Amino acid sequence: MIVLTYNTDNSTKTDIYCSVDYNIFKNIVNDRNYVIITDEKVYNLYSENLVKSNCIIIKEGEEHKNLSNIEYVIRQFIAKDLDRNSIIIGFGGGLVCDIAGFAASIYMRGTPVGFVATTLLAQIDAAVGGKNGVNFGSYKNYIGNITQPQFIINDALFLKTLSDKDYLSGIGEVLKYCLISNSNLIEYFTSNFNSVTMRDKDVMDFLVKECIKIKTEIVSRDTNDKGLRHILNFGHSFGHCFEIVDGLAHGIAVTKGMCTAIDLSVKFGYADARLRDRVYELIKSAGFETEYKLDTRHFDLLQKDKKKSGNYIDFVFLSEIGNPIIGKTAIGDIIKAVVE
Ligand code: GLY
Repeated sequence: MIVLTYNTDNSTKTDIYCSVDYNIFKNIVNDRNYVIITDEKVYNLYSENLVKSNCIIIKEGEEHKNLSNIEYVIRQFIAKDLDRNSIIIGFGGGLVCDIAGFAASIYMRGTPVGFVATTLLAQIDAAVGGKNGVNFGSYKNYIGNITQPQFIINDALFLKTLSDKDYLSGIGEVLKYCLISNSNLIEYFTSNFNSVTMRDKDVMDFLVKECIKIKTEIVSRDTNDKGLRHILNFGHSFGHCFEIVDGLAHGIAVTKGMCTAIDLSVKFGYADARLRDRVYELIKSAGFETEYKLDTRHFDLLQKDKKKSGNYIDFVFLSEIGNPIIGKTAIGDIIKAVVE
């Protein structure tokens, strides 16, 4: 068992358990009143170890990431007599973690939450760092806050049951960490790529741990996303647009967003064409398409990105592997540059 602990600049502490049997959540919860929020698919896979009367089962899919679902969950908390000494557990992927984290953060002005993260994407990103929330119409993650979980449990077993699409989506976020960090993760990823595709336990344990280390180091320095933390958004400004307009899984949309971002990095003079070729090669060889198409639907959403202020956006460019640059840029200039 590996336990990584991160502290935030608000003095909270989160324990992340990696390479463990997920059932250790029972020891952590101990004799506290608890409830598990999960989705239908995850519940059906792991029901034999869950007590049904403690579970709130929500529907899968981005279309359910909304305020009505939060209201539904909160009604269940009340029915199950949860109070601020109880603990809420999000047992699932990114959607479940977002719903559980947000509902817990507002229920009785804040009730403890922990996550059992069942997708690669949740293990390395969604469960880590405290961002939670729901969409508002087409606007992604518009309603939410940053509240840290008490614990995160990552069991390698979960990666074996993921669909190919969900696994690839998680790999998309792994690639983001490879590109924004100077920790030689990119070399490890490319030289172990066959094992990554085979979902080899040791290789994936290592990658999950390294991605978490990169993220928690950033989150502990800029928990409230005032500056440095924006670099975790590399590929996300357009990624969110591809996700909503083209209906792509999050991490797959992010790889297209990274292709857009590296093209813009060259166009705005942050990077040279060799870096672009290297990034494209990495993304392609990991099994993603590098072509993308943008139209007014994407641009309309870009103008509503949460990282904007007025007509400007804190766009994340890349100047070298491991050197992301946050550049305040006019949204109009970005749109002009991508259509050129
Ligand atoms: N997923 C980006 C962040 O947590 O800041």
